[in-house]
Amino acid sequence: MISKCLFPAAGYGTRFLPATKSIPKEMLPIVNKPLIQYGVEEALQAGMHDIAIVTGKGKHAIEDLFDRNAILEKAVAGSDKEQLLEETNRLIEACTFSYTRQKQMRGLGDAILTGEPLVGNQPFGVVLADDLCIGDNEADGVLRQMAEVYAKYRCSVVAIEEVDPSETHKYGVIAGIEVEPCLYHVKEMVEKPAPEEAPSNLAIIGRYILTPDIFDWLRRTEPGKGGEIQITDALEQQAKNGRVLAYRFRGRRFDCGSVHGFVEATNHFYEKCFGPAD
Ligand code: G1P
Repeated sequence: MISKCLFPAAGYGTRFLPATKSIPKEMLPIVNKPLIQYGVEEALQAGMHDIAIVTGKGKHAIEDLFDRNAILEKAVAGSDKEQLLEETNRLIEACTFSYTRQKQMRGLGDAILTGEPLVGNQPFGVVLADDLCIGDNEADGVLRQMAEVYAKYRCSVVAIEEVDPSETHKYGVIAGIEVEPCLYHVKEMVEKPAPEEAPSNLAIIGRYILTPDIFDWLRRTEPGKGGEIQITDALEQQAKNGRVLAYRFRGRRFDCGSVHGFVEATNHFYEKCFGPAD
């Protein structure tokens, strides 16, 4: 039912310097697959085949990843490397890709608003590629679970997980009323609160389904935490004037924007591909 998925991918990835000096952080590989490809696979599994990417300087490698490469395909044709390209090629054939550039780094909310011409007036998914998410089983990705919630309630949905109270300053944090197991009607949202200011320990992770009126809320949102336009602030307004749900997903999220999470994800996918490391 939702066909569009937006990938804000303009950030510098400074936590991964020097690697991200010349490689987009979304291209860092977990085993042999770039982070953003995991995200696009998750979107496609949820039925979102129109992929919209908000980029910035130095992000050409993302466009090249999602483009057939006849010379490379010819070079590996008939060898055991051929199948390594097949997964990516299947994705390229199943999806459309469109790109726009964020003019200035003014925050995640601004990056999402920059994607409006690519999204138009329809509900859409948002994937922050450095949060790598897996469902409890492969057929049950997090975005797919959220699309089911959307189909029932037709409002914006954010994915949440419980975090240690000492970690709330890294996330948007919600407070809400549980309306069904694992589903909360959002009453309050705070971007990166200190533990003593956090309304709960339910943290937003990098998966959203947004209804298109979010663009109007974003236009009215003043710079917030860190002087940036925050999607959390726009969502709080949307929640106060209608309905926003927070969904505690089944599965696991790796924070691949941190070295620790990146290594955990690498170990997880290595074991999945090759069995336990020695
Ligand atoms: C962004 C959002 C934050 C959310 C987080 C999830 O923060 O602003 O609300 O909890 O993504 O990964 P960032 O990690 O980009 O600083």
